[in-house]
Amino acid sequence: IDLQPHNTLAISAQSAHFARVQTLDQLREALTFARQRRLPILPLGGGSNIVLTGDFPGLAIQLDLRGLSVKSGDFGHTVCAAAGENWHQLVMTTVEKGLGGLENLALIPGKVGAAPIQNIGAYGIELRDRFSSLQAMEIASGEIHRFDTGDCAFAYRDSVFKGSLRDQYIITQVSLALPGAWEPCIGYPALHGYLRKCNWESGALTPAVVAQAVTDIRNSKLPLPEIIPNAGSFFKNPVVETAHYESLKAAHPGLVAFVAGDRWKLAAAWLIDRAGWRGVRRNAVGVHDSQALVLVNPGRGSGEELTGLAEEIAADVYAKFGVSLEPEPRYYP
Ligand code: EPU
Repeated sequence: IDLQPHNTLAISAQSAHFARVQTLDQLREALTFARQRRLPILPLGGGSNIVLTGDFPGLAIQLDLRGLSVKSGDFGHTVCAAAGENWHQLVMTTVEKGLGGLENLALIPGKVGAAPIQNIGAYGIELRDRFSSLQAMEIASGEIHRFDTGDCAFAYRDSVFKGSLRDQYIITQVSLALPGAWEPCIGYPALHGYLRKCNWESGALTPAVVAQAVTDIRNSKLPLPEIIPNAGSFFKNPVVETAHYESLKAAHPGLVAFVAGDRWKLAAAWLIDRAGWRGVRRNAVGVHDSQALVLVNPGRGSGEELTGLAEEIAADVYAKFGVSLEPEPRYYP
């Protein structure tokens, strides 16, 4: 089948086989089918973090596992969600109950099962800050295994599921821990600036107000995939040594950067913007005009066109700033 409706970049590519699974047994069956035929697997959540670079010769599995529960205890709240639940819906379910902790992660596209893989993050919070545990099915055996925080090796846009356990598990359920006593996390410059502009005192903030602010900011910069196909940030923000940061900052005083441990995380959007790429269009594909980190596919171009543009941008940024950009979404096949 054509995977165009299953990826937010709206790239057309054929998958040799396709299955939609709603139960763990159906998932196990699909994995057995693939194993017997030695087919590679493409797990599909929301398809918001993949680039289809060509036809997929294996089995695409749409993970439609559903179920969501919120339990409150003495020390906080536990949210359990199946992999196929929509991430933003999960955030809004907790916010509507008055529970804080996930509001900074409102409006991130995709499904719950994909969230831990790249440790989604926005506006000063990452999934790992709220993570409790997850369950995942081992592709080779069909067994369900549990992973606690320590097992996941979370880092900036990274986890064990992109590293040593890549292609070995399918996440089926995620548990999150929300604090009993909520404290707003509004230090991220864009969020702080927005709330100040609206005259919000930190005492009067609620999770719903922060969620609304994040939603407004995202809507003003990030294109909706249903309208302009995209996969969010196309590159990770590069992390460089302090000496490198200091020489860049001296040459480019406007450089945007954040401290990251003993190194510096640079705003890739700023580098790409300054290199002159914001709003550039190359046939079917291009760079979004209000966020240079987002590549868009308004003309429904191919994965090759898109990755070609990405390579051109990365080479130019390297030539101008000596900084390497790494794609954030995963390329298939
Ligand atoms: N900027 C420019 N030009 C642009 C866009 C931004 O100069 O075209 C500057 C902004 O002025 C700002 C800085 O770059 O000072 C950073 O921009 P922004 O706050 O929009 O954040 P980002 O670093 O571009 C990251 C995440 C986003 C996340 C936002 C908010 C990555 C790769 N991206 O973007 O995540 O929503 O911060 O926390 O870490 C995603 O992963 O798909 C994603 C959208």
